[in-house]
Amino acid sequence: MSFEEMWADLLPIGRDPDSGGYHRFAWTPPELECRAWFVDEARKRDLEIETDANGNLFAWWLPADSSRGDAVLTGSHLDSVPGGGAYDGPLGIVSAFAAIDLLRERRVQLARPIGVAAFAEEEGARFGVACLGSRLLSGAIAPYRARGLRDRDGHAFADVLTRHGLDPERIGPDDDLLGRIGCHVELHIEQGRALDVPVGVASAIVPHGRWRFGFTGEGNHAGTTHLKDRRDPMLPFAHLVLAARQAAERHGTLTTVGKVEVTPNGVNAIASSVTAWLDGRGPADDAVRRTVAEIHEAAQKAAREHGVTVDLAEESYSEVVGFDTTLRDRLAETLARSENAAQPSGPEPSGGPGSVRVLPTGAGHDAGILASRLPTAMLFVRNPTGISHAPAEHADRDDCLAGVEALTIALEELAGGLEEPAAGLKAPAAG
Ligand code: GLV
Ligand code: MN
Ligand code: MN
Repeated sequence: MSFEEMWADLLPIGRDPDSGGYHRFAWTPPELECRAWFVDEARKRDLEIETDANGNLFAWWLPADSSRGDAVLTGSHLDSVPGGGAYDGPLGIVSAFAAIDLLRERRVQLARPIGVAAFAEEEGARFGVACLGSRLLSGAIAPYRARGLRDRDGHAFADVLTRHGLDPERIGPDDDLLGRIGCHVELHIEQGRALDVPVGVASAIVPHGRWRFGFTGEGNHAGTTHLKDRRDPMLPFAHLVLAARQAAERHGTLTTVGKVEVTPNGVNAIASSVTAWLDGRGPADDAVRRTVAEIHEAAQKAAREHGVTVDLAEESYSEVVGFDTTLRDRLAETLARSENAAQPSGPEPSGGPGSVRVLPTGAGHDAGILASRLPTAMLFVRNPTGISHAPAEHADRDDCLAGVEALTIALEELAGGLEEPAAGLKAPAAG
């Protein structure tokens, strides 16, 4: 199965024929179809399949002696945002299987296992918490909190797990599984216009979080309720959206209100409640925190003026992540040697031809969550449209193949037949 064949198999799954956007939410039929595809690809390669208690999927290629420690994990996620692109997540998984094929073609002997991961609910598009699978695995979210999460139809995460054969009482950190992994390298499409060569290396993920604002007013008739008698939650909501933009401009951060639920959502009814989600990101924690505090103040003020109440819940927050510098430098060296991956194809960028791009990102990733427990690093593949989380997200075929080549070399260096754990892997546990 070539990269192109795997890509073609995945392409129609969960794709809206009109917009071209993907709707692959965790444990819904399209995402389950993607999981079935994953299992199928793993079986074709005789990889050992493991589903952890948190619903994360792994496919292991074990060395000849079947040893399981110091594994080199790669992979990404299969779920999407609503109306997302084809590449965010699946590119890392297809590239991982393609890299395993190349390593086998090149008759590389493994000294350590290589694992391909498909982390569950990375986008948080169904249950609201981004990177839910890797957060649970690494202990970054309490199991009781995860069990209580509900999707927009009211289905509890715990019930969804049960329906799919998992025991919600067993979710949570898995030190045994983490203890078997030496490092994690996630390949991902770059999600802005920051990369001017086919492949680059991530340096950091900026702080980011999600906040839920609930406005409660009074439902009433659109034609008979005088303006002075209204308690319309849409008005403070409108203030929130504008305040978010203004606070971001003041603090050099990014804010987005991209999701809103209006109850009862009728043209001729004043809403009784509005729930709005704020995504906030920025170069530093204090800038993000100040941004959100100011937006909250503005929402409270507007709510008071309109006789509406407002409450705020932080759904998730991730502080700045600096990827493992040893692993990052190894990947950069790999890229420097891989001409294909390092040569700019456009006008010569600053840094000169062949220089390796090491760049931070504003997007969240499972590799960022796992960084608290393991050495992690990321490879980025150029995104010529600069668009992501939308149907126009794209990577050119040649850049994808350059990504596969870079990942293949990196996996060979990290998991190939060296005597000692390669630099970049965590030191083996004492005893
Ligand atoms: C995930 O892609 C995120 O950054 O929200
Ligand atoms: Mn994403
Ligand atoms: Mn992603």
